[in-house]
Amino acid sequence: VVYCGRDMQRTYAMIKPDGVRRQLTARILQRFIDKGYRVIGLKQLVIPRELAEQHYAEHRERPFFGELVDFITSGPVVAIALEGENVITGLRAMMGATNPKDAAPGTIRADHATTIGENVIHGSANEEDAARELGLFFGDAELLR
Ligand code: TYD
Repeated sequence: VVYCGRDMQRTYAMIKPDGVRRQLTARILQRFIDKGYRVIGLKQLVIPRELAEQHYAEHRERPFFGELVDFITSGPVVAIALEGENVITGLRAMMGATNPKDAAPGTIRADHATTIGENVIHGSANEEDAARELGLFFGDAELLR
């Protein structure tokens, strides 16, 4: 019997260029699988600048926006569509705080990052962002059912 609960969700996760450069991809994917999430979409790409600006549109007016876009387009990322029970908040919990200095021990950012500018992993903040970001990075035909 496959149980499909009310809180089954999809979200967008992304291993940032620092994580890919440091060959953390397999370990981070394994953490998601160990947790019980299903990887329903997966690809490695260099993000075009325009897509990066769309992805981070909410930060357009922030002083760090230029550096953020420079960084996220500086090398390949791994785009991941994840499915699971409460996966949106679950992924955020696994990531840890935005600034790795504040990230709880055992989280991805605490274990693998030291600076806010290069914090290894992205995860959608809420349901609306998850739908928007999955749509930016994946077509329907690229996601498993
Ligand atoms: P944000 O959406 O606030 O954090 P999160 O990635 O945890 O959802 O910010 C997006 C990215 O912008 C963040 O991962 C790193 C970068 N950033 C900075 O470089 N400096 C900052 O002061 C902030 C708030 C974010």
